[in-house]
Amino acid sequence: MFDDIERVLITEDQLQARIVEVAGEMNAVYSDDEPPILVCILKGAFMFLADLSRNLTFRHEVDFMEISSYGSGTTSSGAVRILLDLATDIEGRHVVIVEDIVDTGHTLTYILRNFSSRNPASVRVATLLNKPSRREVDVPVNYVGFEIPNEFVLGYGLDYAQQYRNVPYIGVLKPEIYEQKL
Ligand code: PRP
Repeated sequence: MFDDIERVLITEDQLQARIVEVAGEMNAVYSDDEPPILVCILKGAFMFLADLSRNLTFRHEVDFMEISSYGSGTTSSGAVRILLDLATDIEGRHVVIVEDIVDTGHTLTYILRNFSSRNPASVRVATLLNKPSRREVDVPVNYVGFEIPNEFVLGYGLDYAQQYRNVPYIGVLKPEIYEQKL
């Protein structure tokens, strides 16, 4: 598995240090008075959610949602659909969407539009990674771990062909690994 990785982009220590900082930003905003719901967007955000949640000092709930983008390979198209919906009614609740990466912005745009029809008290977005150079639609992102260049990243929850999610750091895949499948 590790032979397929060209280099480390963000180390485990860098991830943990930055997540503590992002959690600190959220700890300054949210409180036990109105516990928010953290919505983990599966599958990629599961590790970020786990480490972020552990560093939050206010009471909160977690819920999960899975979205599928049509299209294949390493890019996403504009069309998305819900594979797994929330178990929680978010009406009147404060919501934090937890993403692993915002790329074109289509997935997040869909989720934000979908959530707004459920009348939450507020919706904010936390993403571990942000690729602003790839943006096709403008989306608000409140908490960003790292801005990264347009490279094929994996690990710490992010996959290539559903694998490599267990790599403990953010790495860059060797081009020959995905080029041979294109
Ligand atoms: C990734 C990521 C975001 C989305 C971002 O999910 O987790 O949800 O793509 O891309 P966009 O900004 O271009 O819409 P993916 O479809 O790879 O699913 P996964 O998290 O299950 O791997």
